[in-house]
Amino acid sequence: MPPVAAEQINDAEMTRFVDLIYKVTGIRISTQKKTLLSNRIRRRLKQTGVETFEAYYLKLKRLPASDLEWDRFLEEVTTHETFLYRDQVQWDWFQREFLPGVIASQRETKGPKALRIWSAACSTGDEAMTIATCIASTLPNLSEWRVQIVGTDIGVGALEQAKKAVYNERAMHLVPEICKKKFFTRQPDGTSWQANPILTGMVNYRQHNLLEPLNEAPFDLVFLKNVLIYFDDVSKKTAVGHIRKLIRPGGLLVAGAAEGVSDLLRELQRLQPWLYQTSEGKNAR
Ligand SMILES: C[S@@+](CC[C@H](N)C(=O)[O-])C[C@H]1O[C@@H](n2cnc3c(N)ncnc32)[C@H](O)[C@@H]1O
Repeated sequence: MPPVAAEQINDAEMTRFVDLIYKVTGIRISTQKKTLLSNRIRRRLKQTGVETFEAYYLKLKRLPASDLEWDRFLEEVTTHETFLYRDQVQWDWFQREFLPGVIASQRETKGPKALRIWSAACSTGDEAMTIATCIASTLPNLSEWRVQIVGTDIGVGALEQAKKAVYNERAMHLVPEICKKKFFTRQPDGTSWQANPILTGMVNYRQHNLLEPLNEAPFDLVFLKNVLIYFDDVSKKTAVGHIRKLIRPGGLLVAGAAEGVSDLLRELQRLQPWLYQTSEGKNAR
């Protein structure tokens, strides 16, 4: 008879998995979450036919990070919770202060009509699509603007979902009715919405691990929400170091309310508990 996976991983296995997850993602899972982690990994054992936690651990270690099994494993151990217009106060700021500031500044300087925004750890793209929706409903003569929204996440599966740009009622529940009607198309199933090309045309998705540098031109604004809450101080510092280099002088960072990055961003001006600006610029743009 083949060996049957134990109900729970033992303490030594737990430590090895926790260390592995930390090394790859920066996420530090509490060793107290043994039952949760056991259940999640057991799902992978079932799917792959691997019989023990130990054997699955060894299998993962041997596979290159690009292997699909890595993504499936990370899918199980990371949180993808997200929805459009999450944290209303930030979207009010984005639409009522940031975007009007961008328009006014462009008019004043006669500079290029260009805007680059990064949704870091974007999960299934709901944040990136909220950015696009706010822009489409605020920027006059949108076609004259070169808007680039880059959504990145470590999870390939989440990004595949993001590229489909289809959102269920739950993800859409905070989208203003007027925007829903104007920029989304209800799907034949009646329970989901497809973002229209005016939105999807602004967004590009790329796989990226926040523990590594991202090869991109600087951004005017970066959203970094609900991801570093799972990191420890060391991996937070690494991620913030990479992100900081990609905010243009005078550019801004929107952090999640519980992101715990204020100590790491001391050299930036804190405009709100969740909003930071690089020191080189006086205006929001
Ligand atoms: C809870 S979601 C946040 C989604 C969105 N930012 C929001 O606030 O609604 C967290 C995302 O972080 C991603 N993630 C975790 N570790 C990561 C890493 N090291 N690099 C990039 N993304 C990571 C996960 O795959 C997941 O999709």
